[in-house]
Amino acid sequence: MKMTDLKGISILKETDLTKDTFESLIDFAIQLKAEKKEGVRKRYLEGRNIALLFDKPSMRTRAAFMCAATELGAHAEFLSDDDIKMGQKDTVEDTAKVLSCYFDGIQYRISSQALLDDFAHYATVPVWNGMTDDWHPTQMLADFMTIKENFGRLEGITLTYLGDGRNNMAHSLMVAGAICGLNIRICAPEALQPDEAVFDLAQSYVQQSGGTITVTSNVDEAVHNADVLYTDMWASKGEESEIGERIELLKAFQVNRQLMEKTGKPETIFFHCLPAIHNTDTEFGQMIYEKFGLTALEVTDDVFKSNKCKSFDQSENKLHTIKALMIASIIGEPS
Ligand code: CP
Repeated sequence: MKMTDLKGISILKETDLTKDTFESLIDFAIQLKAEKKEGVRKRYLEGRNIALLFDKPSMRTRAAFMCAATELGAHAEFLSDDDIKMGQKDTVEDTAKVLSCYFDGIQYRISSQALLDDFAHYATVPVWNGMTDDWHPTQMLADFMTIKENFGRLEGITLTYLGDGRNNMAHSLMVAGAICGLNIRICAPEALQPDEAVFDLAQSYVQQSGGTITVTSNVDEAVHNADVLYTDMWASKGEESEIGERIELLKAFQVNRQLMEKTGKPETIFFHCLPAIHNTDTEFGQMIYEKFGLTALEVTDDVFKSNKCKSFDQSENKLHTIKALMIASIIGEPS
């Protein structure tokens, strides 16, 4: 099963990919990245049109899709919620059918997974999840490419995620990791542990892949021998008013120099999908300092600015993995 299996297929959640298709996309993205650095630009999607639908803000995913489309010779068109007005006058079905008349592929960032699934059901071109409240598959592709660049493999790599275990990143890492044979440890306080249904879904993959899934609130056990420590914002978009409560729950889960050393492995690297609250140089960071006296939240500035931090590689790799994904979905195997 390789990239050709993805031709015409929508990627709405991690389970739409297999271990083979994950690995094929990542290997092709690594090739595309090397070719770009050598100045080789192949316009695999010349004359194609890509729709970028966003009902929530995005910097990285939007920019990565836009640049990926342009570099591949396609035209990308951004359509905001104001342009689409999904379900207000045009039904979801009608909107999906209309946009499928013009575009060869559609990226959609929207809160509701059910609405995305419904939209993709009626679309006649591939639809890519640009992040819902449930899943973030394009982030997984970029993150796992970054793991492969650093360790040369996915299988057997131990990744510990610390923070809110109920959010789309924790859930996506559990399921994508289980599919690809990683050892995923979710380290979160009891009140913020992953959804049981998602844990069961992840478990259903590990027997075949050889991975493991662990959920714990014990930080020392969770980080011991980990290859990657991963964290995310303590309050996602729209949850900012809950930050005081989250700080109380999550302060023991901050990634700082001591925690990095607790892995016992000098080669441990740090991941964050961004944005990260690592100092007081932002309005939010300044507010946190004034209200709570903290200079950082989920990761300290020294870890974030160290050579252990691979966040900007994760961001860059969105470009290459999204290129691979669009090529696979629209034309299948590149010639
Ligand atoms: N990490 C991520 O998805 O970033 P954006 O929200 O900027 O797209």
